[in-house]
Amino acid sequence: MADLTDRVVVVTGAAGGIGSALARRLHDAGARLVLTSRDADRLAALATELDGARAGDGGDRVTAVPADLADEAQVARLYEEVGRRTGHVDALVNLAGRSIPGEVADTDVEDYLAVWHSNVTSAFLSSKHVLPLMKPQSGAQVVNVSSLAGRRPNATAPLYCTAKAALDMFTRAFGLQVRERGIRVTTLAPGGVDTPFWGDRPVDRSALMAADDVVDAVEYVLRTPARVQISSIELEAFGR
Ligand SMILES: NC(=O)c1ccc[n+]([C@@H]2O[C@H](COP(=O)([O-])OP(=O)(O)OC[C@H]3O[C@@H](n4cnc5c(N)ncnc54)[C@H](OP(=O)(O)O)[C@@H]3O)[C@@H](O)[C@H]2O)c1
Repeated sequence: MADLTDRVVVVTGAAGGIGSALARRLHDAGARLVLTSRDADRLAALATELDGARAGDGGDRVTAVPADLADEAQVARLYEEVGRRTGHVDALVNLAGRSIPGEVADTDVEDYLAVWHSNVTSAFLSSKHVLPLMKPQSGAQVVNVSSLAGRRPNATAPLYCTAKAALDMFTRAFGLQVRERGIRVTTLAPGGVDTPFWGDRPVDRSALMAADDVVDAVEYVLRTPARVQISSIELEAFGR
């Protein structure tokens, strides 16, 4: 499997449950990290935890840049900053996302757009703006974390199912576009994971996967040799 030492990896949704677990794993593996999500305080705390007092000074292995990833001006600024600090990107892991469950009849268009932008627009904009930083034929990768909810509809969260299904298709079509540049694109579709994603919704957390289970799969994809393309992985809790 490929060595991750000094690989430059951008993690979106980095302050979240899976994102922070992934950041810790990749940091342990020696990768150089760019961490981004909206909450500047949580992001800074994570960067400080990983790289101590040196976090954010430009000479360390962790760069934390808060941004609303659904806002193109902020995303453009983010990748300009990444370019200045690292010069290139080896991998982008799109984890930003959220769900707003509810009856369609009671859902307003603001919530519909919030779910769409958080899951789909964020991945589109990061994919667009990271591309100039990915060296052709260098084994670069984009990993989009979708959900089983995008493949198996549920009645609880139709907006989320729709957005993740769209993200799946975006990932496949985008992958065809960048194939000639040697960029590999993967969809990861987990079932339920025990993270802050669920908020105070009534869910049996003992029946969910752990964030590290998803991190294992992301790490496997990132370590896959450049001659191998993994298009899609589904994973879900088993036997609990
Ligand atoms: N947990 C599950 O059961 C599960 C299952 C399948 C798939 N997933 C997917 O896995 C990914 C990570 O989920 P998680 O469980 O780690 O959830 P989480 O703890 O809620 O983290 C989600 C992250 O996304 C960020 N985010 C949302 N909208 C954003 C935006 N517009 N701009 C920037 N950042 C944004 C949030 O940060 P800020 O609020 O600070 O912006 C947060 O850091 C999501 O895409 C989720 O849909 C989760």
